[in-house]
Amino acid sequence: MGTILIIGACGQIGTELTKKLRELYGKDNVIASDVRKGDPEFVASGPFEVVNALDFNQVEEVIEKYKVAEVYLMAALLSATAEKNPAFAWDLNMNSLFHVLNLAKAEKIKKIFWPSSIAVFGPTTPKQNTPQYTVMEPSTVYGISKQSGERWCEYYHNIYGVDVRSIRYPGLISWSTLPGGGTTDYAVDIYHKALSDGSYTCFLSEDTRLPMMYMDDAIRATIEIMQAPAENIKIRSSYNLSAMDFTPKEIAETIKQHIPDFTIAYEPDFRQKIADSWPQSIDDSHARNDWNWQHQYGLDAMTTDMLEHLSSMAE
Ligand code: SER
Repeated sequence: MGTILIIGACGQIGTELTKKLRELYGKDNVIASDVRKGDPEFVASGPFEVVNALDFNQVEEVIEKYKVAEVYLMAALLSATAEKNPAFAWDLNMNSLFHVLNLAKAEKIKKIFWPSSIAVFGPTTPKQNTPQYTVMEPSTVYGISKQSGERWCEYYHNIYGVDVRSIRYPGLISWSTLPGGGTTDYAVDIYHKALSDGSYTCFLSEDTRLPMMYMDDAIRATIEIMQAPAENIKIRSSYNLSAMDFTPKEIAETIKQHIPDFTIAYEPDFRQKIADSWPQSIDDSHARNDWNWQHQYGLDAMTTDMLEHLSSMAE
């Protein structure tokens, strides 16, 4: 068996994915890479390479050097950042994917994980229990890039036999690494500010409902879809994936159960329009049927765990 390469290992998902994959497969079998070195402790925790996901030769060199068999391509510009730099977002999100798909087509790697997002849906998509197959007219640069990426993944699978697997992540909440420029980031910031300031000003309105997931569940889903037998992965664009959905007001209520004096104010900005274009809840029955997906964390359990971890980090 070859090694595993994570591209974008210093990001919100990449950091935790690297740690978990190293626990499972041994640190020397999991190569972390990013465009720059992140937290020194993380960089020292196993093999690390500086790799620009847009540089085909750099990606190919690392794959050859470590005899990589599986690539997790986590480098991307998220929704809010992408709106500020559309051309670069398109370049990074699409061309990094083409590099990896083409390396698999050339049989230099065997398997790819590539994340998609609820951002593939748009204002004309049914908002509640959004089905796997439905109207998809994304209105953000990020969503357009993820929707196009999904089409290319399916194409490379059907035409060239590439084993590429993908999940449409909802908003992801984690305590160890901050998210990098998404519309759902408020659901991470709110815990940090609740502990440091006792108050939070939210950039979305109080009733903005979005699909969300705790990072522990997201990492488990990512590893489970990659470990599943190939014949179980019937969808080669990307799977809907769901755990919970809530509004800023509802998450604030759960925080108040732990920090009774916590207060929240609302000052919606440009991200409100992005959030309003996305689903409120997701039907993920295909993931549950095809590869036995089951979430563990709901809102209350997540709030308890987030506050415990963040409080002990502050001590
Ligand atoms: N969390 C992402 C974002 O807000 C959605 O995939 O951009």
